[in-house]
This record gives sequence, C-alpha cells and structure tokens, in this order.
Amino acid sequence: MEKLTTVILAAGFGKRMKSKFPKVLHKIGGKPMVQHVIRLAQTVGSDEIICVIGHEKEKVRQALASEPVMFAVQEQQLGTGHAVSVTEHLITGGTILVLFGDAPLLTPETLTSFLRFFEDGAYDAAILSAVMDEPTGYGRIVRSESGAFMRIVEHKDADEATRAITEINSGIGLFKTQPLKAALGALTNDNKQSEYYLTDAFEHIKNVGGKVGAFIAAHAEEIMGVNDRVALAEADAIFQQRLKKKWMLEGVTMRLPETIYIEADVEIGPDTILHPGTVLKGKTVIGAECEIGPGADIEDCQIADGVKVTHSTLIRSEVDSDSKIGPYAYLRPDSRIGKSVKIGDFVEVKNTYVGDGSKISHLTYAGDGEIGKNVNLGCGVVFVNYDGTNKYKTIVEDDAFVGCNSNLIAPVTVGRGAYVAAGSTITEDVPEEALGIARQRQVNKTGWTGKYAKKK
Ligand code: UD1
Ligand code: CA
Repeated sequence: MEKLTTVILAAGFGKRMKSKFPKVLHKIGGKPMVQHVIRLAQTVGSDEIICVIGHEKEKVRQALASEPVMFAVQEQQLGTGHAVSVTEHLITGGTILVLFGDAPLLTPETLTSFLRFFEDGAYDAAILSAVMDEPTGYGRIVRSESGAFMRIVEHKDADEATRAITEINSGIGLFKTQPLKAALGALTNDNKQSEYYLTDAFEHIKNVGGKVGAFIAAHAEEIMGVNDRVALAEADAIFQQRLKKKWMLEGVTMRLPETIYIEADVEIGPDTILHPGTVLKGKTVIGAECEIGPGADIEDCQIADGVKVTHSTLIRSEVDSDSKIGPYAYLRPDSRIGKSVKIGDFVEVKNTYVGDGSKISHLTYAGDGEIGKNVNLGCGVVFVNYDGTNKYKTIVEDDAFVGCNSNLIAPVTVGRGAYVAAGSTITEDVPEEALGIARQRQVNKTGWTGKYAKKK
C-alpha cells in the first residue's frame, strides 16, 4: 500500500458537552476519546498521524505529548473541511485517512475493511457510512436512483425528504492526495452553519470526474460521534461491554458484569473472578486465579496470582501472590505487599513494604515502614511517622510481634523476633529477641467501689 497519512480532527469546541475541558479529552474507558482514535490510526498502519488542534489547543497538546503525532493548529474553527486544509503543508502524498477525535468506537476490523474497499475500488475518495434508525444530527448520504454516491447533506441543511434518509456520514473518509487538495481549495461556506464542510469535498471530487464511493459499516454503533454527555455515557457503556466480553473470552469470570467497570489498559489473568462493584483503573494488572470484589477499587496496581481483595481501595501498589486484602483495607501509593500476607479490616498502609507471611489483621496504620517476614501487628498498631514537619521510618524485623494498641514512634526499629507489649508507646529501638514494654504498671485499689458508693 502507498503511504498512509491519518488526519485526526480534534479542534472543535464541543459546545454541546457544556464543559470547560476540550471535548476530545473527555474519557471513554479511562482514556481520552482522541487517544482511542490515535490507537486506531496506529493499528491500521498509519505512516504519519496529524492531529488538528484548536480550541484549548495547549490542553490537548499536553494530553497527547507522548503520542507519536504531529500537530497542526486550526486557529479558528471554520468547519471540518477547513480543519483538514490546515494540514495541507504536512501532507506529502499517498492516501489520506480522516478520522474524527469524537468518534472513539470505530474498530480496526471495520476500518481495515474500509481501507480495502478504497484500494480495491481504486477510488479517489470514499466515505464510511452507516445505516441508523435515529439519524438525527448526522449528515445524510444522497445516492442516485442507481445507488451511486451523489453528495452529503448536513442535517441542518437538509429538507424533509433528505432527513428521511437513514444512511449517514460517519465523517471518516479516505482520499488520494491530489483530488483532496484540489477539493479543499474549492470549498465554500455557503450553508446554514457558514462552515467549510469536509463533506462537500466528496461531491466536488465526483463532479470533476473522480471516483467516489461510500462503504456501509456493518455495525452502526461504531460510527457514533460523541457530542454531549448522553452520548458520552452511551459510548462508554458500549466500550465497557466490548472490553468485558474480551476479558471473559480470555478466561475471566465476571459476576453481574454490568456492575463492573474496567479501564482500557487493565490486564487480567485467567480464572480470576471479578465480583459485583469492582472498579479496575489505569495500568492495573491482575494475575490469574484472583478473587476481586465485591466492592474493590483498584488503580495502577500490580496484583500477582491467587490474591483476594474485598471491599478495599488500592492505589499505585503491589500485592504478591496469595495475599488477602480487606475487607475495608486501604493501600495507598507505594505499598508493597509480599506473598501470603494478610491485610485486614480498617488497615491503612502507605509507602510501606510488608514481608511474606506477615499479618496486619485489624485497625492499624502502617506508613513509611519496612516490615519483615512473618511479623504480626496486633489490633490498633500505629506507625507514628509524622512530627508535623518530617516523615520518619519504622522498621519491624522478621518474626517480630507487636501487641495491640501500640504506638511505634518513628524513627524506630523493632528487632528480629522481638515482642512489644500491648499498649506500649515505643520511642526507642527494641533489640532482637527482647520484650519492649512502655506503659505504666497497673495499680489495683481494693475495695474502691464500696467507698465510692458511700461517698455518693
Ligand atoms: C460531522 C459531519 C457529519 C457527520 C458527523 C459524524 C461535517 C460537515 N459534518 O458533523 O456529516 O455525520 O460529523 O459524527 O463534516 N472539528 C475541527 N474543526 C472544526 C470543526 C470540527 O477540528 O472547525 C472537529 C471536531 O473537534 C470533531 C470533528 O471535527 O472532532 C467533527 O466535528 P463536529 O462539529 O462534531 O461535526 P458534526 O456536526 O458532528
Ligand atoms: Ca460530532
């Protein structure tokens, strides 16, 4: 195939979103819509990708800074045809694919079929169309009696009869370079919106003797353009259904999948079970044979095989194999949990390593710590890591046992195999194999109750 240059239109205002953020940065499956479109352009083998930016261009440029795209700036949003024309200096020949930044659901399969249609038919220009039961808002494809492509009429410019047409323009088009450039030069803005429509380029190419065709996509939902929040939610739901289907076919069990939310870059191993109310975000990787949920909220985490997580929130952390998290645990960023560890109810862990086989079963805060293997932190242990200015480290070495309701005032170390008596406030290191006890001795005042009653 000749060189393929993809132009992605992402300069529009997106008025109907009623948002201060540019429309194409609104997310589907946790990823900006325009990024889905860039992925698609890559998947079908684009040699170059040009992104047309305009409205809030710096925000879009920043969001796409690490993407392999060139930018062309459309200072004024004068229409989709005008948007393509600002890329002309970057187009050096070959085939031009125009994609819309607000159409995130198109699949590589459909786009590849469209590319093949264009090549096999030796077209000068081709449109990807679809048949929609509810075509309101879309440009309509007008065909001759013999079925040949005639023109596209925008909804706003269409009369009753044209509005009755159900074949619509997706906005996605393919062009040979020369016919496109000639057509862009000939566009006018003589229409209801006073815009330079890309759609008029097809009619122009046909009128000067070019070959123009329209390829009807099999699944109209792929073509959906997101113009408002209702469409955003619909597109997100379709994306979720597809993604969950993919993971189910890879061997993941989902209970009540409609209650589960998974973002685009998440990975999940086989024989893992996702329970209702599970949310998996960012670059989260879940291993095989895990049980996640109900009610798990996991973002940017690496979870190894055989882990259980219930009713818990995990952020930017790692959990090694066969560990159990929750119910009601909170792993904050940079927590690293070893193998076969138990992090139980109302335990908060932050920036702390927990060695293999250790147990933190209830009501504990472990922040900025390093916990060895087979350590037991009793109920209500607090790593007192912050003096109001600085943070300090708490070390609890292998096989140590910290009794309930103890404060470990950092910086402090509890040595290997040492014990801390319940209710202690530990301010100095506890040596290996020692018992650290730091509380007042108990005094019992005998017969006190009777005396107290008499006084009353
Ligand atoms: C467009 C098509 C319509 C099609 C529909 C499919 C035209 C004239 N109309 O209408 O036939 O059925 O998409 O969803 O092409 N953009 C720019 N610069 C501009 C204007 C728009 O970059 O000056 C970008 C937008 O950011 C958006 C895309 O082009 O990503 C489409 O623009 P939009 O205004 O949403 O077009 P529609 O009215 O939906
Ligand atoms: Ca649109």
